[in-house]
Amino acid sequence: MSSLTALIERLPKAELHLHIEGSFEPELMFAIAERNQIEIPFKTVDDIRKAYEFENLQDFLDIYYVGMNVLQTEQDFFDLTHAYLTRAHADNVRHVEIFFDPQGHTDRGVAFSTAIDGITRALKQGKAEWGISHELIMCFLRHLSEEAAFETLEMAKPHLDKICGVGLDSSENGFPPSKFERVFAASRDLGLKLVAHAGEEGAPEYVYEALDLLKVDRIDHGNRALEDDALVKRLVDEQMTLTVCPLSNLKLGGVSSLTDHPLKRMLGLGLRAMVNSDDPAYFGGYVNQNYIETATAVGLTSVEIIQLAKNSFLGSFLPEADIARHIADIDAVSETV
Ligand code: ADE
Ligand code: ZN
Repeated sequence: MSSLTALIERLPKAELHLHIEGSFEPELMFAIAERNQIEIPFKTVDDIRKAYEFENLQDFLDIYYVGMNVLQTEQDFFDLTHAYLTRAHADNVRHVEIFFDPQGHTDRGVAFSTAIDGITRALKQGKAEWGISHELIMCFLRHLSEEAAFETLEMAKPHLDKICGVGLDSSENGFPPSKFERVFAASRDLGLKLVAHAGEEGAPEYVYEALDLLKVDRIDHGNRALEDDALVKRLVDEQMTLTVCPLSNLKLGGVSSLTDHPLKRMLGLGLRAMVNSDDPAYFGGYVNQNYIETATAVGLTSVEIIQLAKNSFLGSFLPEADIARHIADIDAVSETV
């Protein structure tokens, strides 16, 4: 094992950009499909993996929404989330802020409470079993209407004790953040944190809209912000966290090779970038794999890897004292490098 791999494995990390439905491994999908007696259009786990070839974000989303159809019961959402936390724990992840897509479930007749109760039960168990702290972020699907987003926010109201924030995901191009300005304002009024996918495939203008109209606390992805020097300067000045997902960018065609990935450039510019797995069951790796493959491809130094781990906590919604404790743990590991 290389010394950088050993360092990555030993560093405490937070994951801030993880769609729980995107952690649905084919083996578990088969098991739950059988349990719920649901037909899926694949015969074997290998058939499923072979279908995971994507040209772009929409290609992936088309199969991602089919995959989540087998999730029906509270136990299904528990099993899904518990499986993710098991992997996160193996990667020395100490804190997670995970997304879920309520509309992907309520639109097919699964109650909001079924999804959130199963996810929350597993998050609590992850805390008890491994000490992994957690927050849950509910995303609005941007290809659906503003009205549908407001209906989802209404459904969330009895569950606000379990939700720390709202996000915006799904197909980006043609669905600008501006469409969701009012529902984000209403979410902010409820005391919720705000994040949005922007600049994954969409132009820098979408990142400006996320900042100026949605008033987000973090940008998910943000890669295309690099095309606009003034925007980069602003993101640096505001120390806005970018939740970067290298293997996702590779699998969805954002970069043609991981050697072209902008992560090292982002750090060099002073951006607060950090590393995540996005939809690890679909993109071929959990968080450590994202660190290891990118570090190898773009030549990250140990100093840069340590900075990424620190950024993962600095960008989190944890209280300051908890962030300081995790940073001290990272310092303790880095002193041995
Ligand atoms: N939903 C799940 N993964 C996503 C991604 N990478 N971008 C937008 N929406 C998503
Ligand atoms: Zn994402």
